Amino acid sequence: MATTRFRRVWITGGSSGIGRALAQHYADAGARVLLSSRNAEKLEEAARKVGGAAYPLDVTDPGGIEQVAGEIWEREGPLDLAVLNAGAAFKRAGRDDTAENLKRHLEINLLGVAYALDALRPRMRAAGGGTIALVGSLAGYVGLPRTSGYGTSKAALAYYAEALWAELRRENIQLTLVSPGFVKTPMIAANEFPTPFLHTPARAALRIARGIERGVFEVAFPRRLAWPLRLLRALPASWRVALIAAGERRMGGR
Ligand SMILES: NC(=O)c1ccc[n+]([C@@H]2O[C@H](COP(=O)([O-])OP(=O)(O)OC[C@H]3O[C@@H](n4cnc5c(N)ncnc54)[C@H](OP(=O)(O)O)[C@@H]3O)[C@@H](O)[C@H]2O)c1
Repeated sequence: MATTRFRRVWITGGSSGIGRALAQHYADAGARVLLSSRNAEKLEEAARKVGGAAYPLDVTDPGGIEQVAGEIWEREGPLDLAVLNAGAAFKRAGRDDTAENLKRHLEINLLGVAYALDALRPRMRAAGGGTIALVGSLAGYVGLPRTSGYGTSKAALAYYAEALWAELRRENIQLTLVSPGFVKTPMIAANEFPTPFLHTPARAALRIARGIERGVFEVAFPRRLAWPLRLLRALPASWRVALIAAGERRMGGR
């Protein structure tokens, strides 16, 4: 039986995949669950399933996020936990990784989180504190071929979390970075690369929730993927890029 110290939990990207599994986890643990994403119909259905409430929004719209945060505080009261999980991975349109592709990823995966943080931080500070989890990815650990848009946005998000951690802690706001490996969700359904150590959304949600509950800075899983990537990251960059290129050649990449 799941338990949680959080009474009011807001999850962006709560209509699908990891967000939806987290919603189920926190609802089962007795929390009031508030969900956000763009498709209002899908969101309503997800919220109904967990006995929670739907607050549709697009994370790329700072005004919309500010408005939803205001509504949540007014109707529900201060949040104990916000999981900023909404994210996207776009296929590149042609042969090249373009600036346009990078921009789309940064808008959702980085700025979408930063806008939400702008709305949450003053409110949580005024309420005496809170917890905010940012969902990044192991893909941000090293520069992987053919994923420069997505990977750059997740690497930047990890930097952002690290840079803000101490400052937020002084305001009694616990910041946790979540770095999952592969999770079986619609996001990776059309993935062309191998997806080793694939987790179900429910198993991923359990690992994420346990880490957030403990108040650690980073929840990274599976360890079998996280550790080799950490070791790769610790190498001199010129060795790392050569090793990654050799690995890609072996896997038949160009
Ligand atoms: N699956 C993996 O293997 C994996 C691995 C590492 C990290 N992650 C990260 O985990 C998070 C959740 O991914 P997932 O795999 O659960 O993906 P998913 O099943 O595709 O769910 C993505 C969620 O984000 C919402 N969303 C997308 N763009 C949005 C926007 N502009 N504004 C508001 N909501 C938006 C989607 O709903 P709407 O489309 O209706 O808005 C949906 O609820 C992402 O940050 C992803 O990068 C996933």
